[in-house]
Amino acid sequence: MRFSDAFLQQLRDKNDIESVLAPYVNLRRAGRNLVGLCPFHGEKTPSFTVYPEDQTYHCYGCGEHGNVITFVRKIQNLSYYDAVKYLADRAGLRMPDDTFDDGMDRLRKRCLAANREAARFYYSCLLNEEGKQGLDYLLSRGLKPETIRHFGLGFAPNRWDSLKRFLNAKGYRDDELEQFNLLRKSPKGHYYDAFRNRVMFPIINLSGDVIAFGGRVMDDSKPKYLNSSDTIVYKKRRGIFALNFAKNGPEKKLILCEGYMDVISMHQYGFTNTVAGLGTALTDEQANLLSRYADEIYICYDSDEAGRKAADRAVGIFSKVNVKIKVLHIAGGKDPDEVLKNHGPERMRMILNDALNDTEFKLSEAKNAQDLSTNNGRLNYANAAAEILASLPNPVERELYTNVVAGEVGLPPDSIAAQITKIRRARQKKEERSRFDTVARNTLGVVKNEFYPVGTPRVVIAAEEQLLASLMRNPDFYRAVKSEVAAEDFVSPVNRRIFAAIADAADKTDRIDPYFFEELFSPEEMSHVSGLTERFGTLGNTLQECRDYINTMKKHTIESGQTEIGKLDNAAFLQALQNIKNNKL
Ligand code: CTP
Ligand code: MN
Repeated sequence: MRFSDAFLQQLRDKNDIESVLAPYVNLRRAGRNLVGLCPFHGEKTPSFTVYPEDQTYHCYGCGEHGNVITFVRKIQNLSYYDAVKYLADRAGLRMPDDTFDDGMDRLRKRCLAANREAARFYYSCLLNEEGKQGLDYLLSRGLKPETIRHFGLGFAPNRWDSLKRFLNAKGYRDDELEQFNLLRKSPKGHYYDAFRNRVMFPIINLSGDVIAFGGRVMDDSKPKYLNSSDTIVYKKRRGIFALNFAKNGPEKKLILCEGYMDVISMHQYGFTNTVAGLGTALTDEQANLLSRYADEIYICYDSDEAGRKAADRAVGIFSKVNVKIKVLHIAGGKDPDEVLKNHGPERMRMILNDALNDTEFKLSEAKNAQDLSTNNGRLNYANAAAEILASLPNPVERELYTNVVAGEVGLPPDSIAAQITKIRRARQKKEERSRFDTVARNTLGVVKNEFYPVGTPRVVIAAEEQLLASLMRNPDFYRAVKSEVAAEDFVSPVNRRIFAAIADAADKTDRIDPYFFEELFSPEEMSHVSGLTERFGTLGNTLQECRDYINTMKKHTIESGQTEIGKLDNAAFLQALQNIKNNKL
């Protein structure tokens, strides 16, 4: 969907940034602006700033940047289109007519429609003669008919073309169905059903649309599950199974399991706040999304070694978002589904009650790794525990667990406390050092930013960014300078890709908007792209200025064939700073 400038302007006018951010950030006034704790990274002193005048925000801690659309997109994990739709709904604006749709949006709608038809088809197969085997399988796993209906489970017949025929008859072409991951194409060019002879689990997004499928075999053959790969409407890294049902619970608590069957059993037994990832290890995006719907998350992974490792990782990932964590120890079965089947929901409730908080979980992991009957084992555990407890900001909590650990290893609490203090001091020093480095670089005109190699001079960054913004604003400029500049002239890899994207789009349009790129870039990168256009997009640059930027960039490329600043030791670093000051870089 390409939105007109007028529509986007209206959308921003009617969604004041303060009110859009209010549910997520506690803002207080600071002069003309507002500040608060950044919702995108954990922090204790506010570095998140909102600029009501130009309706943008910027976090000086993590670099997040954008306008209301960027914010909604990121915080609610939405596509650009859905973020605009959300804001339009919020402001009571009608979305522009479909007649203005571009290909992307039409394709998205068609993909959702095809998926919906496919889900209906699989469901109907489950209920007819051909699907008896599938239905029997699901019933044998203890699912009730109403559970099957609630989750829209289905069956993919054991034929090559049953879905293909069904959807062809509804007017869908083979090539598009392949693009939607519903069909595959053989090397000889024949199309066939992607899912065959499997029970089917539709994956449904927060708007209730079917966006993908998982399919399970009914015996022990491999692979056990087959999952749709990413499509225009489905990004596995962002997806959460059953969040559409779980998000509306009375308490802001979610239970996170590993598998589809775990989730479905849990719901059947009344734990309707249960969700799962989609066959991938937990991602930052998923953790972020979950933290929007829960204050507390119960990690309920399988009891095997893989599950324990995954829980370890998940605790680390959740520590980056603002949510309390509990970790369950599943006993009496391999996974929640088995526990429920073997022992019933009461046992599950007990397990939930006994869940460990993240500190308890980390301590218990450290303890299990040692043999506490030996001196060496106790020593190792005490040291590992001190590392864990040193990270606790709350002194009361530190003391509480210090006493627990002291009791376990048979040492006086003071000696463990002393060790913790030592670790905290060392860490503090390291932090100060890195803060000093950052400040030194910033003051001396060299910035640190994830999109640029350490040590890139500010003037080069500004040249790259202003050039890209100008080219997006005026594709004519691109046509004029395209023989003078190449992707390699950009220092930043993401800027190279933006340049390539501009090159691609410049032939097709006379005004390139950042959302053209949203399929090509991650949300973080999109925040960078829209940052560019917001900061520089309104500057009335001339072609001559573009050429000046290009010169600055080229000069840097030629001259910077030296050591990267980040790799230098202290003395060399200071020397490098001196050089920068003298404009030698
Ligand atoms: N998974 C997958 N591909 C596989 C195996 C597993 O995508 N070959 C994903 C699925 O999302 C699955 C999850 O990993 O739900 C957990 O795997 P597992 O514990 O084996 O699945 P269960 O849901 O317990 O499946 P079941 O009880 O049906 O064996
Ligand atoms: Mn299982």
